[in-house]
Amino acid sequence: MRNILVTGGLGYIGSHTVVELIKNGYTPIIIDNLSNTEIDVLERLESITNHKLEYYNLNICDGLALEEIFTKHNIDAVIHFAAFKAVGESVEKPLKYYLNNINGLNTLLNAMEKNKVKNIVFSSSCTVYGEPDFSPVNENAVIKRANSPYGRTKQIGEDILQDCKFLNTVSLRYFNPIGAHASSKIGELPLGVPNNLVPFITQTAIGIREQITVFGNDYSTKDGTCIRDYIHVVDLAAAHVKALSYINDNPENQFEVVNIGTGNGFTVLEVIQTFEKVNNLKLNYTIGPRRSGDVEKVWADASKAKEKLRWEAKLNLNDMLISSWNWQLELKNK
Ligand code: UD1
Repeated sequence: MRNILVTGGLGYIGSHTVVELIKNGYTPIIIDNLSNTEIDVLERLESITNHKLEYYNLNICDGLALEEIFTKHNIDAVIHFAAFKAVGESVEKPLKYYLNNINGLNTLLNAMEKNKVKNIVFSSSCTVYGEPDFSPVNENAVIKRANSPYGRTKQIGEDILQDCKFLNTVSLRYFNPIGAHASSKIGELPLGVPNNLVPFITQTAIGIREQITVFGNDYSTKDGTCIRDYIHVVDLAAAHVKALSYINDNPENQFEVVNIGTGNGFTVLEVIQTFEKVNNLKLNYTIGPRRSGDVEKVWADASKAKEKLRWEAKLNLNDMLISSWNWQLELKNK
């Protein structure tokens, strides 16, 4: 396996994965329509990897353009990142999510079938579990109705992949990816006001936002704030390379889901306190009401990833929050 089509390859997780692919001898062919990233990322990736990269500005729903890519390149496998991911926006604009995340996947799979490409790594999310009955949550947990259209697109996406028996799929259920590449050349680029915790923390620390609100401190957790399993984006990127090896070594596999998390849960207050400590600064935060739709606590049972993919997280919360802050400092100079 050599040529890997990376949809959404200039996005947050996609770009970090491109770096890991090159490191491991693969040739990524990137497609991205820049709907949630910038073209500068391409140059930055070329500088990190010291490679000229193959890139096409292309919408995942454009079947004809996609066909051309498959005809031009001898694609061995696809890593499919290209999707929208803002939970709140998906409630406001569900059709935008069904169009991009579901029609996009369907268009991609049709092109794969036509071109006899069967290997795919899919970006799924722990959001498919909704509020799990217990944590750590494993892959056999009952899948409940998702609490947003975004979450539903991930559930439906997994169902579609499972129905397509011609595929060899690994669906990675990411927990909460944060952090940035050690070079500080790539990281998360939130458009407008961030929804996610860590970009909001770093933007507050640097003075773009005045204050961060902790969404609720009356949950049934040790300090009353929600618990998540934060995972370094560089570890997460490495999991995709391991998933490709798994697919290569198991040609008879049809569909496998794997949690990608550290197995450790941290509360919102623990994240804030760790951020302050490791970066030696004070954060202006206040406690506010709960955010609707939030899950109280969820963290991964990551043992399947270790067993099947031979992957486990290496970086800890300190590494994540130091690299997030360094990336924010770099963004200031951009
Ligand atoms: C959710 C999904 C995740 C999805 C992601 C995409 C779950 C469990 N997770 O992440 O699968 O990929 O959206 O965006 O459904 N918080 C604050 N103040 C803030 C921002 C966040 O207190 O200003 C808190 C939240 O209440 C939450 C935690 O920080 O407890 C993490 O929030 P966030 O970063 O938005 O991620 P999730 O909602 O967990």
